Amino acid sequence: MSKIIISPKKGKQGIGAGVWNLGPGRDPFGGPTRREIPVLDRIPLLAEAGITYVEAHDVEIPLSDVPKAKRILKQYGLKMGMYTPSFFADPLFKDGAMTSNDRAVRKQALHNALQAVDATVELGAEVMVFWNGREGFDFVLAKNGRDSFRRLVDGFNTVGAYALKKYGKKSPRFALEPKPNEPRANMYLGNVGEVLYLISRLDPAVQPVFGVNPETAHSRMAGLDYVWDVELCLEAGKLFHIHLNSQDTTRYDQDMPFGYMEPLKDLALCVVLQDAKWEGILAFDVKAPRTDRQEDIADILHTSAANLQRLWAKALKVDRRKIAAFRSTQQYTALGGYLAKCLY
Ligand code: GLC
Ligand code: MN
Repeated sequence: MSKIIISPKKGKQGIGAGVWNLGPGRDPFGGPTRREIPVLDRIPLLAEAGITYVEAHDVEIPLSDVPKAKRILKQYGLKMGMYTPSFFADPLFKDGAMTSNDRAVRKQALHNALQAVDATVELGAEVMVFWNGREGFDFVLAKNGRDSFRRLVDGFNTVGAYALKKYGKKSPRFALEPKPNEPRANMYLGNVGEVLYLISRLDPAVQPVFGVNPETAHSRMAGLDYVWDVELCLEAGKLFHIHLNSQDTTRYDQDMPFGYMEPLKDLALCVVLQDAKWEGILAFDVKAPRTDRQEDIADILHTSAANLQRLWAKALKVDRRKIAAFRSTQQYTALGGYLAKCLY
């Protein structure tokens, strides 16, 4: 399949997706339903699905596999979109990484983070993500919240200083990805506002390289509106990356296809990104459901991409003057009706 292009769009046009999107179908209640595809073998599958920018964790492409990964990326005409240290998979991080109460674990986390900076640069990705996976608590008073916050600030300050000293202008930019819960009952950096507040508390020297990676489904899990969450990132000048998917109400994390659950909001999101002249990658964070067969594993990418292309094209045709007119007369029901007409 040829590359999926979102056009016309400012800046980067290809689509991003994670190697973890093509997993074997494990969930908390049952084992795999498909053959586990070795991580590097997923790169050709992503290429076949029309993806341009690959995303991966350090546990998926460890530093030792970086040269091989680079060769495969080149062979299939792909680029690395982002890289991220897994602060959640290893049992060592069962109680968090930078916020673990165990000093030795915090030290290991920092070590992994700095190594991930090097791998990010080596792979040519411009963005490194920190997802707050296990940074949080299940029991009240299990952690001192103020200490945890300080530990996050110190950790990110160290990462930023390391990257700027070593790479200067070529330093990756860091995008913190909020999520309210799962795997922890309560997670630090649970929403965009918390992330922006944390960034405001970082050393001013590193603040410019820290931003947000909002994920539509994560906002929804918190019962928040992802269009406003993205607008808030834009307002702060901190939209560094974006993860697109869908979520069926505020339950467990589902990572369903983009454009599936709330197409009207997704259309509005495309309008917002177009008006902001978003130049970054549009990336999917979806999960092939365990009911999909081995041969259909990339269906979730095809469906997300087709939905995005349709919605993007429709968003281009949304008459901004009409929106402005509805706003000025406060005819919001009519505005919703107009958007629906653009959609259907
Ligand atoms: C995990 C999370 C996902 C995040 C990714 C990168 O896979 O589920 O939301 O984007 O890690 O850190
Ligand atoms: Mn994500």
